[in-house]
Amino acid sequence: MTAGGRFITFEGIDGSGKSTQIRSLADSLRVAGYDVVLTREPGGSPGAEEIRRLVLEGDPDRWSAETEILLFTAARRDHLERTILPALARGQIVLCDRFADSTRMYQGLSRGDLRDVVDQLHTLMIGREPDLTILIDMDPAIGLARAKSRETAEERFEDFGQALQEQMRAGFLALAREFPDRFRKIDGAQGIDAVAADILAIVEAELA
Ligand code: ADP
Ligand code: TYD
Repeated sequence: MTAGGRFITFEGIDGSGKSTQIRSLADSLRVAGYDVVLTREPGGSPGAEEIRRLVLEGDPDRWSAETEILLFTAARRDHLERTILPALARGQIVLCDRFADSTRMYQGLSRGDLRDVVDQLHTLMIGREPDLTILIDMDPAIGLARAKSRETAEERFEDFGQALQEQMRAGFLALAREFPDRFRKIDGAQGIDAVAADILAIVEAELA
């Protein structure tokens, strides 16, 4: 276990506003005097960023779900060793855009029930859950429209379409019920400032 720091993750479907909100939270916490590390998955360390390109670009059927579990977990292990655990040991607040809950959903649910495989590999290779997880809940039609408007090459998962996003939304809500101690659900349909205020209030209460 790590002493000192606090590990906070953001989860939700594509286009739910995670990247926008995590940056806003980092700014607010820094103004309040906290030492913040802002990071993301897949990625967050040089090796994991290389794996990011392998999993997020190309055809939707480029990898099987099983291979993806291994790739995302390999990226996560590197990120954990080189970025997250050292920052927590220094007493920093780590804000991470997606973490293992995304693998539980995207690889564990989308192409058959592989949740148990995801959890077993997580126990074996990662063994760390966040202290707090902010779930931004969002209508997939709006989320997908927002995500598509970004026009990046990283569209492999967005290309699975709205049905997948519907399944992911329901899955994340179920996950929040499964881990009520660390999950907090936010209504992502509000304006950017209202969502930010909700998140800041929850995180300030957690840090107090
Ligand atoms: P995610 O990281 O969850 O995929 P982003 O933060 O990248 O989502 O947001 C996707 C797009 O939607 C961006 O263009 C962003 O500016 C816009 N956006 C984010 N939050 C809101 C909001 N509350 N209302 C309207 N647009 C938003
Ligand atoms: P991200 O960059 O957060 O995309 P977005 O801003 O659109 O939400 O994540 C990229 C994609 O990677 C996203 O579609 C979800 C997917 N993903 C997985 O499938 N498994 C994982 O373990 C992680 C971390 C992400």
